[in-house]
Amino acid sequence: MVNSETPKPTSQPTWGVGPYQGDPTKHPDFSKFDPQLLQEGDTRNVVDNYRYWKMEEIVRDLDAKRHPFHVAIENWQHDLNIGSIVRNANAFLASSVHIVGNKRWNKRGAMVTDRYQHVLHHPTIEDFVEWTKTAGEGGKPLPIIAIDNVPGCKQLETTKLPRECILLFGQEGPGLSQPALDASDQVLEISQFGSTRSINASAAAAIAMHTWVMQHVFS
Ligand SMILES: C[S@@+](CC[C@H](N)C(=O)[O-])C[C@H]1O[C@@H](n2cnc3c(N)ncnc32)[C@H](O)[C@@H]1O
Repeated sequence: MVNSETPKPTSQPTWGVGPYQGDPTKHPDFSKFDPQLLQEGDTRNVVDNYRYWKMEEIVRDLDAKRHPFHVAIENWQHDLNIGSIVRNANAFLASSVHIVGNKRWNKRGAMVTDRYQHVLHHPTIEDFVEWTKTAGEGGKPLPIIAIDNVPGCKQLETTKLPRECILLFGQEGPGLSQPALDASDQVLEISQFGSTRSINASAAAAIAMHTWVMQHVFS
């Protein structure tokens, strides 16, 4: 609700901050600061709270707060969505991102967020499934939740996602492979209303991660 106390939204014409003004040693986060960034300014795409922080300190701080969902995507054809999925996973603070199939992926869409995210690779679906068997808290299995609109799936909108899980996405064109669908504990679709068969995989990933956040952080 908007009231007189609500700050007026303001645009941010530039990214980042210049050299640190004043005495940084007096700042409570001084031990986390990077001397070079203090001297030259910080133009990285990071939230204001992390301005001037060393990268490893940001990762350490994120690691202490990560949500217990993970994200995976099949990569048999160098899908260009992977970078955006990594960026979304960073924004929604996923525990880790898994690339299944080809190891190489186009990092451009990640906008450097891959440096703050744990990105792991599995050459085959079998390797990936093996990893999930003990990847949950206390070495428990991590449920695989496939996100795709295929015959026999259920609706994401009416399904409670497990607190600990891995959300698995397919690639543009073929979608999830049959072995990936067979290995999944549930297959969920995002309801659509128009004429297109599907939405972009990274858009689907953002919706699914946000659904997890709505279910486990805001309710
Ligand atoms: C472009 S889709 C292709 C596959 C799709 N099953 C089809 O019939 O065309 C690529 C990936 O995006 C995700 N995706 C796209 N639209 C989706 C939807 N409506 N529900 C769930 N996932 C979706 C899935 O992970 C899917 O594997």
